[in-house]
Amino acid sequence: MKYRILGKTGLKVSEIGMGTWQLADDPNCWVGADLKESLRSLHKFVELGGNFIDTAWVYGYSSQYPSRHPSEELIGKYLKESGKRNKIVIATKVVPKNWKWPAWNGIPISEVFPPKHIEKCVNDSLRSLGIETIDLMQFHVWQDYFADDDNWKNTVKKIIKSGKVRFWGLSINDFQPSNCVKTIKTGLISTVQCIFNIFHQKPKIRLFPIAKQFNIGIITRVPLDEGGLTGKFNSATRFSSGDFRQKYFTPARLVELKKRTDNLEKLLNGEAKNLTELALRFNLSFEEVTTVIPGMRKIGYVETNTAVSDSRILSRDLLSVLKNHAWERNFYPMPDPSLAVSNYIEQ
Ligand SMILES: NC(=O)c1ccc[n+]([C@@H]2O[C@H](COP(=O)([O-])OP(=O)(O)OC[C@H]3O[C@@H](n4cnc5c(N)ncnc54)[C@H](OP(=O)(O)O)[C@@H]3O)[C@@H](O)[C@H]2O)c1
Repeated sequence: MKYRILGKTGLKVSEIGMGTWQLADDPNCWVGADLKESLRSLHKFVELGGNFIDTAWVYGYSSQYPSRHPSEELIGKYLKESGKRNKIVIATKVVPKNWKWPAWNGIPISEVFPPKHIEKCVNDSLRSLGIETIDLMQFHVWQDYFADDDNWKNTVKKIIKSGKVRFWGLSINDFQPSNCVKTIKTGLISTVQCIFNIFHQKPKIRLFPIAKQFNIGIITRVPLDEGGLTGKFNSATRFSSGDFRQKYFTPARLVELKKRTDNLEKLLNGEAKNLTELALRFNLSFEEVTTVIPGMRKIGYVETNTAVSDSRILSRDLLSVLKNHAWERNFYPMPDPSLAVSNYIEQ
């Protein structure tokens, strides 16, 4: 495993980080996790040199058990039984108080991240993880005009002073990679987490240069397009109810996906032996990317994915061909056409 420095936090983190959204089952988004396998995957990840784990207050949340935070609790269990807390960088997220993903344009921050709510989430996450300090706390959605509000800034400073959180970051809205530039300039944010993969390459345009200028660590999520970029789905693939990919990969989108992954497969050569490797290597080929965090609920995924961190990056020629394979889509439905402008995909 190779390591990179997470922007101005100075923390040394593994190039492959651990995404944990699906590790503890999530009745609203992911089903089918085997908790024992998930726990073993965490052990394997660290054994193989991984040290960056991304989770969230909301991962695994169920309205039946509103005070439970299953993904954080599983990680807490791992930390306790391994005794490796000091070797791991833990990143988690403050849930938006209004439960809206993404944060819609025009919404006041007082409805999304009021100070008391931020403080409550920090305390909940500390408890679920069973730790005294969170290394990186991220806002789970964002709108850049939130930068004008002083309440969150004062709250963040207060929490850092209390020792409960070391650094703060943004996990920005899907497909809106520069909806954070003004906030980066406040100096309070050390990292940005964004979608970045062969299909969604927009972060390269504005976000990466500004992140480099301000020494912001970039955490890239959804590197495998929710599994689409592994090549394992085709037009006959069907997802269980409770798996959000039932909506993400509509039948028409699966047909298009298959065409696109077939075309990508034709590009495989000595630089990557399969699509999963190509997709992860694509991320690591950009120096602005600090760590890429595939969701890995199986030991096999951990072994395959961590093996990609070996310093080999894709050639300029291949990267320039891959530019033509971008496929911009918006997953979120538009419930009201007049709101479409609020929920844009960045052009
Ligand atoms: N708004 C946010 O802040 C936000 C949103 C999304 C994700 N995230 C974070 O980013 C992480 C990564 O995103 P993601 O998990 O949604 O998407 P992803 O990493 O693109 O895809 C994850 C899925 O890919 C499949 N997979 C992983 N490795 C594989 C391998 N080697 N071979 C075959 N299939 C493999 C698994 O599917 P199956 O197990 O179903 O086969 C897994 O559930 C999350 O876990 C979470 O930590 C954050």
